[in-house]
Amino acid sequence: MSAYNPLAWERVPGFANSFDRYGWVDYRQNVIDWVRSLKPAPARLLDVGCCRGEYLRKLKEEGFAGELLGVDVTPQCVEAARSAGLDVRQADCRMLPFASREFDVVLFLNVLMHLPDPAQALAEVCRVAGKHLVLSCYGATEERGVWSRNTKAFLNTFYPKSAVLSAMPEGWRLAKFETFVNPFGDPVYQYLFTRRKAGKGE
Ligand SMILES: C[S@@+](CC[C@H](N)C(=O)[O-])C[C@H]1O[C@@H](n2cnc3c(N)ncnc32)[C@H](O)[C@@H]1O
Repeated sequence: MSAYNPLAWERVPGFANSFDRYGWVDYRQNVIDWVRSLKPAPARLLDVGCCRGEYLRKLKEEGFAGELLGVDVTPQCVEAARSAGLDVRQADCRMLPFASREFDVVLFLNVLMHLPDPAQALAEVCRVAGKHLVLSCYGATEERGVWSRNTKAFLNTFYPKSAVLSAMPEGWRLAKFETFVNPFGDPVYQYLFTRRKAGKGE
């Protein structure tokens, strides 16, 4: 089992450059489309593990009218996002410096597969999400189950849908689900979760 070190990211050459290489591919645009489909339009959005803030920038470009905020654990990501004029702070997703339900929608994109305890991370990220969570992570078949491709720097874990659903805290329902293949050939699963209204059992 490799030790988890969130700051290992900055030692991976070019880790933040996939947007430069592959641009605005389908699974990225899907996140934007889902956010734009939310009614009423969210007033505050947080992107957890936002890297250089590409999603925040794209949302701004596409007319998102609310407040946009990002966090990332890697200092060089935070610096790059800030120098692009974005409101991004350094924080670990496992201990977020925000009040419960502070944001209408939270993005948690392609970070979960690098963390050792998905249920713990999801609980903390969901804590700050008032209404919606857009989650993206590597997928796997139910037969194969959870499996890992650990690298020297960080974990790389693939989750079947059932593993993600069982790691989610109580009180959320799956509103949308899509699968994609990223430019590296990895299956990317995307989930839109919505908080259940108090007293509703659906
Ligand atoms: C694969 S990149 C995904 C970036 C972006 N969300 C996207 O989907 O393109 C993973 C990002 O998560 C950040 N990260 C890794 N561990 C983290 C942690 N514990 N807390 C916050 N951010 C973390 C990394 O610095 C990196 O920017």
